[in-house]
Amino acid sequence: MVDDSNAETWTLDDGKRLTLRHIAHGDAGIEQTFVRKLSVQSRYLRFHGSIKELNNKNLETFTNPDPLNAEALIILYRGKINEEEIGVGRFIIDSDDKSCEFAVVVADEWQKRGIGTKLMKALIRHAQSRGIKKIHGSVLKNNSGMLHFVKGLGFEETTTPDDPSVVLVTKGLRD
Ligand SMILES: CC(C)(COP(=O)(O)OP(=O)(O)OC[C@H]1O[C@@H](n2cnc3c(N)ncnc32)[C@H](O)[C@@H]1OP(=O)(O)O)[C@@H](O)C(=O)NCCC(=O)NCCS
Repeated sequence: MVDDSNAETWTLDDGKRLTLRHIAHGDAGIEQTFVRKLSVQSRYLRFHGSIKELNNKNLETFTNPDPLNAEALIILYRGKINEEEIGVGRFIIDSDDKSCEFAVVVADEWQKRGIGTKLMKALIRHAQSRGIKKIHGSVLKNNSGMLHFVKGLGFEETTTPDDPSVVLVTKGLRD
């Protein structure tokens, strides 16, 4: 059991109880299992490339975000046998200390049940509490699901001539 004073739990319409909390060092196993179990498509959309699992360096970084400039939140479901990670979102604060870059992914079988929205809203709250004024992310142009998802959350889209395959999505954050 990880001690996180910001942890929250809620119940889905079908009665399943989920927990959202900060990622912790001991989560390397469930984080790697989560990434391995994602569909090829979801891994590609999240990592913008074809990976099957996280390499050791990324696994270490992802489960030990630098408290000075990063945060990662995971969503967990306790099944009959064990607790599994079913979603993860993170942000890294830019060098200006005013904006941050986010990334988010939900396990395929748990998508379209409001979990991504819950995760993004929590990331935004945590970023706001650190004084961040703008959150942004890079979305593959063909990731229509994500573009629909962030539009619903009030993000705006811009494209850059540097990389036409990517759409930059940005949202200003109020105090
Ligand atoms: C994008 C993602 C995080 C959304 O998570 P989620 O838990 O499915 O999101 P929600 O259930 O909260 O859905 C919110 C809205 O987005 C829509 N949506 C989510 N995924 C969608 C998809 N693949 N296609 C179309 N719409 C989608 C939902 O229908 C819902 O729309 P509504 O408010 O009009 O009903 C999830 O689909 C995912 O992990 N995708 C793969 C990884 C990825 O693309 N990450 C982004 C990299 S930056």
